[in-house]
Amino acid sequence: MRRFENKVALVTGGAFGMGAATAKLFALEGAKVVIADLLEDEASKRINEITELGGEAIYIELDVTNEDNWESIIEKIDGAYGRLDVLVNNAGISGSGYQDQGDVKAWEDLMRINATGPFLGTKHCAPLIIKSGGGAIVNISSISGVVGQGYIHPGYNASKGAVRTMTKQSAVRFAKDGIRVNSVHPGIMPAMRTSGVTADPIHRQKILDAYVPMKRAGEAEEVGKAVLFLASEDASYITGVELPVDGGYLAI
Ligand SMILES: NC(=O)c1ccc[n+]([C@@H]2O[C@H](COP(=O)([O-])OP(=O)(O)OC[C@H]3O[C@@H](n4cnc5c(N)ncnc54)[C@H](O)[C@@H]3O)[C@@H](O)[C@H]2O)c1
Repeated sequence: MRRFENKVALVTGGAFGMGAATAKLFALEGAKVVIADLLEDEASKRINEITELGGEAIYIELDVTNEDNWESIIEKIDGAYGRLDVLVNNAGISGSGYQDQGDVKAWEDLMRINATGPFLGTKHCAPLIIKSGGGAIVNISSISGVVGQGYIHPGYNASKGAVRTMTKQSAVRFAKDGIRVNSVHPGIMPAMRTSGVTADPIHRQKILDAYVPMKRAGEAEEVGKAVLFLASEDASYITGVELPVDGGYLAI
């Protein structure tokens, strides 16, 4: 029996990167996947890939910072499937593309997309998950939500730290409703679309050598598998935890 048969999973930022890998894994495990993103063309490619593998996925445009968009996506999901079992708050932007660490607009953008986005997702998805009999929320934080890196904008660390502790608030708050809420903390992964210095191969090698005991970057699917575990019944008594997927970065 596949782990998400007859379940509906919403993955924000599911058109590209780790969200796309996660969406595909959910589909392979039987879920109906909602890819919620701004990148329609990329989402179409992901849907074709999933369909070719025998899975089911749809694209719904969503800007995670826009509350009207959240209201509308929930209406559409309720209309199409009548339920929602899993929310993955994955969409985000990098903090490594800014020259000025005092850039206020960068701070606001990072907080809005990386922290307010998951807050709004949780706010609007929880009622439908509860109506469906409970489920799981997995928030994608980062190693940067636990420790600092001097080479990225502080708004990235702050936004990912907010996601880390908001996860614990949500876990406590929604336990009685049957929603488990956990966070995943990827380490050095394939660069984000918005990455600056962290996309530079020389910089990446230096970081791997100095900070990652396993001496390699992670793969998108390795994060996706951790997300699926936390969203699945295999994690039925796990809520409020933070799971690093970082090759040992946070263990040093
Ligand atoms: N790649 C890394 O090194 C790394 C490490 C730790 C944590 N993370 C976190 O993992 C998550 C996924 O990162 P990734 O590497 O796949 O990045 P990515 O840039 O490859 O993909 C991010 C996705 O989010 C979408 N997105 C961005 N802003 C959005 C918005 N306002 N509304 C809707 N969708 C939006 C993008 O269109 C894209 O599809 C992010 O939250 C990121 O902060 C990434």
